[in-house]
Amino acid sequence: MHQRPRRNRKSAGVRNLVRETALSASDFIYPLFVHEGETDDPIEAMPGCKRWSIEGLVKEAGEAYSLGVPAVVIFPAVDDALKSETADECWNDDGLIPRVIKALKEALPELVVVTDVALDPYNSDGHDGLVVDGEILNDESVAVLVKQALCHAKAGADIVSPSDMMDGRVGAIRDGLDEAGYVDVSILSYTVKFASAYYGPFRGALDSAPKAGDKKTYQMDYANIRESVRETILDEEEGADMVMVKPAGAYLDLIVKVKEATTLPVAAYQVSGEYLMIKSASAAGWLDEKAIVMESLTAIKRAGADVILSYYAKEVANWLRG
Ligand code: PBG
Repeated sequence: MHQRPRRNRKSAGVRNLVRETALSASDFIYPLFVHEGETDDPIEAMPGCKRWSIEGLVKEAGEAYSLGVPAVVIFPAVDDALKSETADECWNDDGLIPRVIKALKEALPELVVVTDVALDPYNSDGHDGLVVDGEILNDESVAVLVKQALCHAKAGADIVSPSDMMDGRVGAIRDGLDEAGYVDVSILSYTVKFASAYYGPFRGALDSAPKAGDKKTYQMDYANIRESVRETILDEEEGADMVMVKPAGAYLDLIVKVKEATTLPVAAYQVSGEYLMIKSASAAGWLDEKAIVMESLTAIKRAGADVILSYYAKEVANWLRG
């Protein structure tokens, strides 16, 4: 035999030499939940994650940052009293998210602060856009999303990240930011976001599940591949700086497809359901948590993700230190 592929696997040293993909702490955006109040509360739906106080969130972000994680994305659990059919709280300059952005920027000026742009945490209907007679309105929702993005930019966000899947929102947000002088605020678009049962635990964490219906008229059908290219082309034309595929693990083929369709950096989100599947199986002693986390995240990067959003970001950064 002239060809013995096993020679390239014969020792850790040789394997290290020929390895194609290596995770780094700098690949990650760390998603964090925040709520009003002084306490850091465990989230029943997502063991190991917390609804942080502003102070607790800044401390957690600081720890992740000192381990080499460059960025966080923040999600608010909004008091029911502040939710409404018009979701106006999402652009309140004194609201929770603007205060978190300011606190993060003051304590950690170099940390990249990413914000979620979507109405669901603020909307009494629990949808990402405005709802009238059971219909999720597009253009009217985009107008509110622009206000929300501007509010985040004004507070100091580095990157706004529309996760709502309304048509045309990237272009409208870009125009809004530019007209207000925020030409350096970036847009990380949830470009290829599927209507997925993998988001269940996240909606539990924020109490943000839709009150009626589902998200299938705006989030994508998971049976489809080709419209991911269409969405990618549109977001690129509309001025997105980075595009995202979400969820990640069951959608590696989509990461490959999107990577081929654009020269923009591609992000992928290992979402709450993916996190919970690993967490619960390892808590039961059925899986080796660290091994599965590293394998699943390496696969996401191998498929083409330049940026990975994962609830494991801080833990991985710690593990990578050895
Ligand atoms: C809201 C939003 C969701 C997630 C991120 N932003 C939920 C949804 O679209 O229903 C999901 C994240 C996760 O499951 O970890 N627009």
